[in-house]
Parts: sequence; C-alpha cells; structure tokens
Amino acid sequence: MKHFVKTALLTATLGLTVAALPAQADEASDNAAVQTREHMMAGIGGAMGTLGCYMKGQCELPNGVIHLLAEGIAFSASTGPDVFKTQTPDATEKTTASADIWTNWDDFAGHFPKLEENALKLAEVAGDKAAMGPIMAEMGKSCKGCHDDYRTK
Ligand code: HEC
Repeated sequence: MKHFVKTALLTATLGLTVAALPAQADEASDNAAVQTREHMMAGIGGAMGTLGCYMKGQCELPNGVIHLLAEGIAFSASTGPDVFKTQTPDATEKTTASADIWTNWDDFAGHFPKLEENALKLAEVAGDKAAMGPIMAEMGKSCKGCHDDYRTK
C-alpha cells in the first residue's frame, strides 16, 4: 500500500511536470538565448566601431568615453562563455553561430579572455592613440579569429 501511494504520487508529479512545459518552451528559450548573445556581440561591435572611428580621426571622443567603451567590451567579453553556453537547436531566430562552437567549446570559449584582457589594457591607455593602435589591432584579430571559425556566412 505504501509503495502504491509513493508510485502514484511520483506519477502525478511527473505528469504535472510534463503538462507544465508548453510545446514551444524550447523554441522560446532558444530564441531568447540567440537574442542575448547577439545583443552582447552587437554591443561589442558598436563599441569597436566607435573606437575605430576615433582611431581613424573621423570622430573625436573624450578620453573618459574611450575608457568606458573599452571597459564595456571587456565586460561583454567576460560574459561570453556564459551567454554562448546554451545550444540552440530549436531557435527560429536567425543566427550565424556555428554548431562547431559546442563541439569545440574549450577552443571557442578560450577566445574571450584574450579579448577581455586587451580591452582592459586599452582602457588604461584611453586617448593615447600610439599606445591604443597595437592593442586595437590585437582585439581585431580576436574578432576575426573567432568569427572565421565559429560563424556561418
Ligand atoms: C569567442 C568568439 C567570438 C569573439 C572573440 C568575437 N565574436 Fe562576434 N560573434 C561570435 C559569434 C559566434 C557570433 C554569432 C552569434 C549569433 O548569430 O548567434 C558573433 C556575432 C557578432 C556580431 C553580430 C551580432 C548580431 O547582431 O547578430 C557582431 C557585430 C560581432 N560579433 C562583433 C564582434 C567584434 C567587433 C568582436 C571583437 C572585438 C567580436 N565580435 C569578437 C563570436 C565571437
């Protein structure tokens, strides 16, 4: 009798769990994960674009703003492994993330610390174009290196 009650309870609990998950849960959460990582990358892209404009002399920026842009990139890079860790096979949202990310996870995630480190170095020399140049070049290599391997065209 005791055993029966336990089994019945377990069955009821499992039944509830299944019923509580709507059919689109995977699609909705996968789409949210795609959006989060794309917004994170778009933030990095916007900051890099603005810094590039400054480096080329096409726009002026106060040193404090350069510092904040660089720190923003560093922070975004630090969130990289976290925002990309979810695989998103059910996403209907357009994504250019390659499936290789999750089969080569350590290599993929290993690109982020270097970018973070360089962005923090950049923040330290904000406004000193001569010192910023080589660091920006290194950061650009991080973007391209990862995109070449882990983005689909
Ligand atoms: C560790 C790998 C990695 C690094 C480093 C990296 N990216 Fe990305 N980036 C990606 C992946 C993967 C995507 C595709 C995300 C998707 O579509 O789901 C992406 C997407 C983007 C996008 C498109 C975002 C959108 O709105 O769809 C931009 C812009 C971008 N990256 C800029 C940069 C810049 C600039 C850098 C360097 C400062 C950089 N990324 C460094 C992996 C990386």
